[in-house]
Amino acid sequence: SAAEKGGWSSFMAKEISEEPEALEQTLLGRVHDGLVVLDEIAEGFPDDALRAVDRIVVLGAGTAAYSGLLGKYAIEKWAGVPVEVELAHEFRYRDPVLGPNTLVVSISQSGETMDTLMAVKYAGERGARTLSICNTQGATIARESDAVLYTRAGPEVAVASTKAFTAQVAALYLFGLHLGRVRGVLADEASRALVAELQALPAKLQQVLLQGDEVRQMARQMSDTRSVLFLGRHVGYPVALEGALKLKELAYIHAEGFAAGELKHGPIALIEPGQRVFVIVPSPRDGASLHPKVVSNIQEIRARGAHVLAIAEAGDVAVLPFADEVLRIPLAGTMFEPLLAVAPLQQFAMELAAAKGLDVDQPRNLAKSVTVE
Ligand code: AGP
Repeated sequence: SAAEKGGWSSFMAKEISEEPEALEQTLLGRVHDGLVVLDEIAEGFPDDALRAVDRIVVLGAGTAAYSGLLGKYAIEKWAGVPVEVELAHEFRYRDPVLGPNTLVVSISQSGETMDTLMAVKYAGERGARTLSICNTQGATIARESDAVLYTRAGPEVAVASTKAFTAQVAALYLFGLHLGRVRGVLADEASRALVAELQALPAKLQQVLLQGDEVRQMARQMSDTRSVLFLGRHVGYPVALEGALKLKELAYIHAEGFAAGELKHGPIALIEPGQRVFVIVPSPRDGASLHPKVVSNIQEIRARGAHVLAIAEAGDVAVLPFADEVLRIPLAGTMFEPLLAVAPLQQFAMELAAAKGLDVDQPRNLAKSVTVE
């Protein structure tokens, strides 16, 4: 009903607006004296057990798998443990190598996704230790796991996952920071600086969401578009994948996300005049100097006639000569940019679906939680 949507046009619009709050809730009570403390997993994963972990496998499906990809970047950087991310339905059927020191982290909003549940059970039977990152209290996957770290995004009604994704990334980051400190890889000082970045995100995200009208305009001009590409590099890559998934699900438009570095290995052949391409541009302050590489990708596709929609940091003027439209995100550390860059893509998919007169909350052929294999 309209009342349940709290004045918003759809549950999805309401849930996007709740993302800053979802982030805050996921951090709540898990930071003490500027450092991450995860008491709730201490029983299933005492510090010794975390120190013994030699490999992490992250499992999920759809959006949950994309949040997992971001977890990989963060956990490897902060905790120095090798991480693989795999679709739960692929993992389960290929005789994966697991041992007692393999930590399997599953991600699920509903906690009821059959593909993910079967993979978690299988991992447990094969002797791996299992941690669930879940948004639904008492869900089956949470109960099947050795420990659970709840995302506290609140109930998500719209079929397309939005605030749950944001909260999943925050939970994975909390876990990565915790693991890094327990394993002695991340010094307290460095850890505190990262925690402070995490805590500054809800306010920054609030600011990003204020660009909703601009995003709506952009989407309305594109209601006839038949294909949209998304490019990102490093942590921008999972954002590109997620932006494409949202557009497929909601607006029924062919969309594909690519790692920007892969462009010249094939996908650039797709570029023809008028092709819409979203590019998630890394910060020019980024130490790995990926910014100029992505700007040069933009030049390459623009020269072939692409219509470029850039998501770039405030003040990044290098993109201006080559981008047709620019959405801005506030300054943040590299690892935190995805949490700001994904919201405009969620809004975009929602607005494009609305412009086409489609049901934003219940896209065709999809269920909120897929409880069959
Ligand atoms: C996201 O917009 C999708 N509807 C879908 O990919 C979803 O994320 C996936 O089915 C996993 O669901 P879960 O998080 O409830 O396990």
